Amino acid sequence: MNRHLLPVGPAHAALLAGMHRICFAEPWEERAMSELLAMPGAYGLLVPPREGEEAAGPAHPRGFILCRVAGDEAEVLTLLVLPPYRRRGLAKELLAGAIDAARQAGATVLFLEVAADNDRARALYSSEGFEQVGCRPRYYGNAVDALVMKRLLVAPPA
Ligand SMILES: CC(C)(COP(=O)(O)OP(=O)(O)OC[C@H]1O[C@@H](n2cnc3c(N)ncnc32)[C@H](O)[C@@H]1OP(=O)(O)O)[C@@H](O)C(=O)NCCC(=O)NCCS
Repeated sequence: MNRHLLPVGPAHAALLAGMHRICFAEPWEERAMSELLAMPGAYGLLVPPREGEEAAGPAHPRGFILCRVAGDEAEVLTLLVLPPYRRRGLAKELLAGAIDAARQAGATVLFLEVAADNDRARALYSSEGFEQVGCRPRYYGNAVDALVMKRLLVAPPA
């Protein structure tokens, strides 16, 4: 695993919920976050503050990803990078770390859902090899469609 990423669990629920609130219009509460991280197969990775950053002011974690593995399938439950730290490749690092962990747990495919109007996230997932395999119409609270995307974690047979 990428040495900069830290595993997180239910004990980090308050921190993660606070970060989620900054990035999403419909944030997950601390309790929901804690229950989710306690589910079988759930795991999370955090980008911690940079070493020495405290000297320059309050140190903030930069982003995280939460996933779940069940059998040979894995799913990204949520992914975010806080606004000041975006466009530095951190989401790509988090995805790569999550993919390593999913492979180690035996997953051969990774699914996720993304809002059809989330251009940044769609650009990220397309550039990381995800393909759209489904659409859930008016899935989100604001009536926006959810696109289901998939990436194989093993090479398809030749
Ligand atoms: C989507 C999000 C996670 C991307 O995080 P990030 O750390 O900025 O992404 P990266 O720097 O790793 O970017 C990787 C690639 O994603 C795409 N991308 C990311 N931000 C983009 C933007 N603002 N515009 C266009 N493409 C973008 C690009 O292809 C980029 O590669 P490049 O920088 O080489 O062009 C971040 O914007 C975020 O947290 N948004 C709010 C929460 C959210 O929407 N999460 C996803 C829910 S499904």
